[in-house]
Amino acid sequence: MNVAKKLKIDTVLRPEVLVIGAGGAGLRCAAQICECRPGTSIIAVTKVYSPQKSHTSAAQGGMAAVDSKDPVDKIVYHMFDTWKGSDCSADQNIIKKVCESGWEQIVWLERHGMHFSRTEEGRIAKRPFGGHMLNFGRVKAFRACYEADRTGKGIMDTVWGESLKHGVVFLNQSVATELIFKNGRCIGAVVFVEQSGKFVAVLAKATIMATGGKARMYQVTSNCRQNTGDGLAMILQAGLPVMDLDAVQFHPTGIVGPGILASEALRGEGGILRNEDGERFMERYAPTAKDLAPRDLVSRCIMTEIREGRGCVHPDHKLPHVWLDLRHIPEHIHKTRIQEVSGFFRRFVGTDPQKELCPVTPTAHYQMGGAPTNEFGEVQDDARQIVPGLYACGEFAAASLHGYNRLGTNSLLELITMGKVVGDSVAAYIEDTKDPSAIPEDAGGRVFAQFAAYLEAQGKECYAEIRDALRVVMMEKVGVFRNEKGLTEAIEELKELKDRAGRMKLSSKSLVMNQELMQFWELDNLLDISMVIARCALARKESRGAHYREDYPERSPEFQHHTLACMTEYGKVELGKRPIDMSIYKAKGKHHKKFGIIERKY
Ligand code: FUM
Repeated sequence: MNVAKKLKIDTVLRPEVLVIGAGGAGLRCAAQICECRPGTSIIAVTKVYSPQKSHTSAAQGGMAAVDSKDPVDKIVYHMFDTWKGSDCSADQNIIKKVCESGWEQIVWLERHGMHFSRTEEGRIAKRPFGGHMLNFGRVKAFRACYEADRTGKGIMDTVWGESLKHGVVFLNQSVATELIFKNGRCIGAVVFVEQSGKFVAVLAKATIMATGGKARMYQVTSNCRQNTGDGLAMILQAGLPVMDLDAVQFHPTGIVGPGILASEALRGEGGILRNEDGERFMERYAPTAKDLAPRDLVSRCIMTEIREGRGCVHPDHKLPHVWLDLRHIPEHIHKTRIQEVSGFFRRFVGTDPQKELCPVTPTAHYQMGGAPTNEFGEVQDDARQIVPGLYACGEFAAASLHGYNRLGTNSLLELITMGKVVGDSVAAYIEDTKDPSAIPEDAGGRVFAQFAAYLEAQGKECYAEIRDALRVVMMEKVGVFRNEKGLTEAIEELKELKDRAGRMKLSSKSLVMNQELMQFWELDNLLDISMVIARCALARKESRGAHYREDYPERSPEFQHHTLACMTEYGKVELGKRPIDMSIYKAKGKHHKKFGIIERKY
């Protein structure tokens, strides 16, 4: 009997709602559903051992939000900064919705137990972050609310606690592998439970995808090892599109070597970037914003310093980098506001940030694109029709708040505000929706064939070699700087790697806690997503936000749209367009001209 026929659905679970990905967005959404509709049965699937290990916990610097009663800052400044930061490619209906509801969500978090850092007067403390400014770009704004340099951990504790309180059931160390559809409606997913080695079908009225980012295909990344694009691969396999995947954010300050995040909060608290000569080089590139210019710009400036010979080479890692100077920051700030990330420098590079310069380099950090949704978090197909029953939020989704470049601290803002929005949408949807009836006969067929191929594959190809080659090609040819030659080569190399990945043989054919089996599956997902990134980047013959083409260095009106991408077979990517929402500009309100196609200078 062939292996695929032996693989089967072991159990069928029937909650009302399935949440795939139990990080900040997924659990904020779950909490909202239960607040609106107490008693709703929810199953949340998480790849990690415990939801608290979700990548949201690694977020450091803060969550942007403006209180409408703030005497200095204004919501419209935040909206403008987000639009300008996106390089005129975010959707304005989402900018308005998210920025206007940000403060309400700070209050929600605070009331549900989050310990925001406070000023001496007892108010929620705020710090500056790149690209956040007052008066339409004139001076830096104090807008990021934070809990020391562990803001994500504070958020996770809060939303996890709420989920437990409401009785959300967790499937830990489990991965959703295939969406289930009936008559065009999403009715759940097939989940592989690593501990039992069994497939479970979770049938639900509504399915919410919130699997976060996917940057593990880059050699230097701040992403945790779970971020392998599994959710996006599942969307593509269902024949649905992904949007703007070429918009990959490189955070300027990864700790050289591992690429672990060294929060922008370090610059918010006064840190300065310096080149080998000790020069504060950002003054040359961004005279107003300097070290607090947006991430795409600062990352390119660092790489330019390195390319033009003004970088340094780290003696241990032999990797090029620039310096982050924190020595002048007062001791009490080191001890109270940035103690965790200071500790990372001590632990990972043996550097004492109070006495020595810290080595940093751009690190792949965030995906601005994702599964396309409307403003209610309903997932859209390639004709921009909603897929009934399927929702998305957080980094996984592209609504799109960030366009081609995200401002720091707008991600925690988005995952909490859109998590809440999607929670409201789902609570309303399930009220009038019937439970799915029988499970379709072909449910799981695709993933069973995929797993059977892993179990049966013969060959001598080595997983680690393919994974490392993928990371190098993506870093070098689909990274901060891109061009036609490099992207074309990358596409050919990815095809070869995909081919080689089919010739990796498992050492154990057990399905139970088989890390190697999981790695094969993750590698396939990474290769699929990498191909879409490279294809989209090749097609976008312009530079916009984090997508920088050396051969097309200017923004072009021809590409004033989002890119939708479907992959029908490996390497064959079909592209479509989604218009960018310009509703603030079109409404012709007081500041509407600021929301036109504006020049982007800092
Ligand atoms: O730099 C940071 O603390 C990261 C924040 C973010 O990605 O929003």
